[in-house]
Amino acid sequence: MNRITGQTRVLGLIGNPVSHTLSPFIHNHLAAAMNINTVYVPFFVEPEHLQSAIEGAKALHLQGLNVTVPYKLDVMSYLDRLDERAGKIDAVNTIKFKDGLTWGYNTDADGLLRSIERLGLFLEGRSVCILGAGGAARSVAVMCGEQKVKKLILVNRTKKKAFDLAEDMARLFDMDIDVCGFEDLVEMKAVDTCFQTTSIGLHPDHEASPIEAEAFFKGLQWAVDLIYNPSETKFLQIAAAHGVRTVNGLGMLFYQAVRAYEIWNEITIPEEVAESVLASLTAHVYIKKG
Ligand code: ATR
Repeated sequence: MNRITGQTRVLGLIGNPVSHTLSPFIHNHLAAAMNINTVYVPFFVEPEHLQSAIEGAKALHLQGLNVTVPYKLDVMSYLDRLDERAGKIDAVNTIKFKDGLTWGYNTDADGLLRSIERLGLFLEGRSVCILGAGGAARSVAVMCGEQKVKKLILVNRTKKKAFDLAEDMARLFDMDIDVCGFEDLVEMKAVDTCFQTTSIGLHPDHEASPIEAEAFFKGLQWAVDLIYNPSETKFLQIAAAHGVRTVNGLGMLFYQAVRAYEIWNEITIPEEVAESVLASLTAHVYIKKG
């Protein structure tokens, strides 16, 4: 970590809980790699103190904040300006304090896009399904709309949420959108790319997958799971066994942080610097000691 001096700018994460976050690791390594004088710390915030936390951070001239569960929606009430992308996703994960104003951004879609394109997955013209219709699915859907996918299928246990998301996306993008339940997915042979955004398969639920049907995986080319713990969910294991290319969620977590750090510091982080910090993060998360 850089030495703290009179010029050090403070960054942080607000959420509840925050004790397991990897963000300090990522941002403090980015600062060291870029030789920028920032320090990043977690801030545990109680719901009734959300507004005063934002106002306090502004008063203390923090450079910016990340926002995590459960505040990505609520925090929008306390901003002066909302970036267009954050408006489309309808959630904020990054706040920048600048010129006396509090700006809200969402870097999840950018982060996911950068993490899949570096592995060779380009979305334009693809037929994509998204499993889940919560906050994470919304970022994926906006990314798909911006990247001009040919077809988008939204799959959720609670169909009403998938229909609501489909309606919102249809208003924003000229895109062919369908909604179905998990039970109908086997029929979806036309899908070539699948994003898994539910919490099914998350540690310690290692044996669960939202879908196991052979016929579904046979037609797939790419399977992306937003979960990074375990590194290979049951969903990704089944996909890999069918020869499908797989991507887990660590890259998205990492690149959404990279984008936030770029916004705060008004810089572009060179890809080779990002790759080297990602290698450190991967070792930190997956290589067990002893
Ligand atoms: P996130 O911000 O991670 O997307 P979220 O907004 O709470 O979190 O959304 C969780 C998603 O996982 C939802 O799509 C949820 O489905 P429902 O809308 O039907 O609740 C899905 N999910 C979580 N547990 C599930 C389970 N056991 N079976 C099916 N879907 C599940």
